[in-house]
Amino acid sequence: MSEPILKSEAVIKNYHIDSTEIKVLKGVDIEFHSGEITAIIGPSGVGKSTLLNILGALDYPTSGDVIFKGRRYSVMSEKELSTFRSRSVGFVFQFHHLLGEFTALENVMMPALIAGENRQKAVSKAEELLDKLGLTVRIQHKPSELSGGEQQRVAVARALINEPNIVLADEPSGNLDQDTGRQLSDMLWRLAREKGYCFIIVTHNLELAGHADRIVRMRDGRIEPE
Ligand SMILES: Nc1ncnc2c1ncn2[C@@H]1O[C@H](COP(=O)(O)OP(=O)(O)OP(=O)(O)O)[C@@H](O)[C@H]1O
Ligand SMILES: [Mg+2]
Repeated sequence: MSEPILKSEAVIKNYHIDSTEIKVLKGVDIEFHSGEITAIIGPSGVGKSTLLNILGALDYPTSGDVIFKGRRYSVMSEKELSTFRSRSVGFVFQFHHLLGEFTALENVMMPALIAGENRQKAVSKAEELLDKLGLTVRIQHKPSELSGGEQQRVAVARALINEPNIVLADEPSGNLDQDTGRQLSDMLWRLAREKGYCFIIVTHNLELAGHADRIVRMRDGRIEPE
């Protein structure tokens, strides 16, 4: 098997509330490969979002480390981590966090512009992605003028515009009805296969998880043996 693109090593995460310590992740070792779709499942509160945030360098582990293409997060500077997050990782959250005053096209272009892409190229990339996601006629609409499913697809396009190596999705269809959720996941799957992303999705939806290459179960702060 090829080298993993991303791996966690003995990741422990504790939260402190007043004097109480909550042990959320109790030693997570897991590897992910390019071109592979992994679904992470497990009961509410088990630490799925916590793990996803740590894998995407949005949060720090209490101990342990994450390694991307052989490079440890713990030795990266804040600046390197921020470049890594904007260039190499695409995030899709349960609630999309689109910017209300901008159009769909502008929302999708934004990460490309921030990463230093020229405007014309950002526009054409954003148009292409929105087109693939079936939103061609909606590109000039603002989020409030879009349905929930359409907003979520815009959020997906925004996560993919910089052609990340890793795509992390936390319950991307969580607040959508079943049909709309399925449509969204079909599109995500197709794009993940086409582009060969390392795609990690947290979901409660077992049907969706069933279409992944691999299902990882979390229990009591750990990954269950596969
Ligand atoms: N910032 C925080 N401070 C304190 N405790 C936290 C914090 N964030 C999460 N937790 C706790 O850590 C545990 C794991 O939370 P997490 O959000 O990772 O669960 P989850 O598996 O994603 O659950 P769900 O399926 O409901 O989204 C929970 O018990 C939660 O209360
Ligand atoms: Mg969660």
